[in-house]
Amino acid sequence: MTERELRVSKIRDGTVIDHVTAGQALNVLAVLGIDGDEGFGVSIGMNVPSDTLGKKDIVKVEGRELSQGEVDIISLLAPEATVNIVREYEVIEKNRVERPERVVGLLRCPNHNCITNADEPVSSSFRVVDDGVRCEYCGEIIRTDIGDHLAVN
Ligand code: CTP
Ligand code: ZN
Repeated sequence: MTERELRVSKIRDGTVIDHVTAGQALNVLAVLGIDGDEGFGVSIGMNVPSDTLGKKDIVKVEGRELSQGEVDIISLLAPEATVNIVREYEVIEKNRVERPERVVGLLRCPNHNCITNADEPVSSSFRVVDDGVRCEYCGEIIRTDIGDHLAVN
């Protein structure tokens, strides 16, 4: 690294979500429900150069691990992402995200008439298909910009 380069610091304990599709870092934070008020250390890099992806985003969260549901949604936003668990400055676990079969309760169906948008005790449920995710209640398909349909937003 030359003196002209400035990198985000290493973290001591927490999770580094690396190789995030450029432009998706803020959606990843939204999935994690992080807005800064929680008090965790959070660092993000956007559009940083990457050998494999050209450019990428990176999200580092201190003192926090991810649930499987969070990783599942991240896989849809950023199919190439790697989730690194860091303890005492060392990466102790590294996993590529994998597309799940379905995602329950984490996305909102875009169809206003869908039962999941009525005032009923029904969680959204989407089947992951080749060209996106399909609502298991009304059949609506979300093909692009999955980050615009996060239930947390
Ligand atoms: N990282 C960090 N803090 C640490 C250790 C690692 O922020 N204490 C970050 C690194 O900066 C890197 C990511 O976690 O962005 C993965 O670290 P590492 O596996 O050491 O890097 P690479 O071998 O380059 O990862 P990959 O092969 O997945 O590209
Ligand atoms: Zn629906």
